[in-house]
Amino acid sequence: MQILRIRKPDDWHLHLRDGAEMASVIPHTARCFGRALLMPNLQPPLTTTAQARAYRNRVLASLSENSPFQPLMTLYLRDTTDPQEIQRAKESGFIQGIKLYPAGATTNAEQGVRDLRQLYPVFARMERESFPLLIHGESTDPDVDVFDREAYFIENDLVPLIRDFPELPIVLEHITTKEAVDFITESAEHIAATITPHHLLYNRSALFAGGIRPHYFCLPVLKRESHRQALIQAATRGNPKFFLGTDSAPHTREAKESACGCAGIFNAHAAIELYAEVFSDEHALDKLEGFASVYGAQFYGLPLNEEFIQLRREPWIVPETYAFGARQLRPLRAGESVAWRIV
Ligand code: NCD
Ligand code: ZN
Repeated sequence: MQILRIRKPDDWHLHLRDGAEMASVIPHTARCFGRALLMPNLQPPLTTTAQARAYRNRVLASLSENSPFQPLMTLYLRDTTDPQEIQRAKESGFIQGIKLYPAGATTNAEQGVRDLRQLYPVFARMERESFPLLIHGESTDPDVDVFDREAYFIENDLVPLIRDFPELPIVLEHITTKEAVDFITESAEHIAATITPHHLLYNRSALFAGGIRPHYFCLPVLKRESHRQALIQAATRGNPKFFLGTDSAPHTREAKESACGCAGIFNAHAAIELYAEVFSDEHALDKLEGFASVYGAQFYGLPLNEEFIQLRREPWIVPETYAFGARQLRPLRAGESVAWRIV
C-alpha cells in the first residue's frame, strides 16, 4: 500500500511545555492530530482546574488562526490534592483525567505522589465519577533496577490500587514491557494503555549504539527487544485497550547532551509517520486507524474526529534540529530517513 487514508488521529499523551517553547513545538502536533491530551508536568505543575484553564488558554492563543486543533487537559496529582478539586476538574468539561507521577519518577515529577494510601479519598471520588487516572507506572524505590521499575510498579502498586478501586478507569501511560502488555490485556475493559512510537521502534541497544546516545533516553527507559516485540503485537492487533500516545517530550539540545541529560524524546515532527512505519512493517496498516484515531477517543468517551488525513509512502530526511523557544531541540531520527509522509 502506497497511500493510506485514515480518520484524523489524536495524541493521548503529549508534553508541550509553555511560553515560547510551547509556541515553537505546537505546530508539529497540530499539523496532523485533531486533539492532544496535554501532560501537566510544567514548572510549577498544573494542580488546579484554574491553572489548567489558564494553560489551555495560552495553548489556544499560540495556535495559528482557524487551527482546528483541540488541546485537552490533565491535572497533576499531589499528596495534598483535595477531592473537591477532582470534582471541579470533572465538571470543567475540558479536563479528561488526573495524572499520577510517583514522586521523582521522571522529568518534573518531584512534586508527585509519595503515598498512594493518602489519596484514597481522591481515588474514591474519581471512581464514583468514572474519571480516568493516568499513571506514569514506574516504581521510585531506588533499590529497584531501572529496567524493572514498570513491572515492579504493576505488581506492587497497580494491582493493589485496582483491587481497592475496581471500577476506576485507568490508563497506564507509555508502556514498555511484556509484563505491562499482559497485565493490560488481562484486566477489565476500563483499564487501558498508551504506546509511544519510540518504544515500538527502538530497543535499549539504541541507547549505546557506538557510544552513549542521550537523544534515545526517555522514561520509562527503552527495554530489550523481546519487550519491544510484545508492544508491537499489542499495538497492531486491533485491541482497543492499546492506543496512541506519543509522549513527545521536548528538551533543549543542551539539556540532553549533558553529564546528566534529562529524560524525554521529541517525536511530534514525525509521530504518525513513525507509527505508520511500525504498522507497515507488521503488514497491519489496516489496524493503524483504530489505534491512532478510534480507541483513545472511545476510552475517553469523546466523539471521533470527522476529518481524514492521507499518508504516502515516500521517504524524507528529518532536519538535524528544530527551533525550541530561543534554543534548539534534536528530534527523533535527526538527519535520518522516515518512510512515510503526510500528503
Ligand atoms: C517526560 C518529560 O520530559 O516531561 N519525559 C520522558 O522521558 N518521557 C515525562 C514523562 O512522561 O515521563
Ligand atoms: Zn510523558
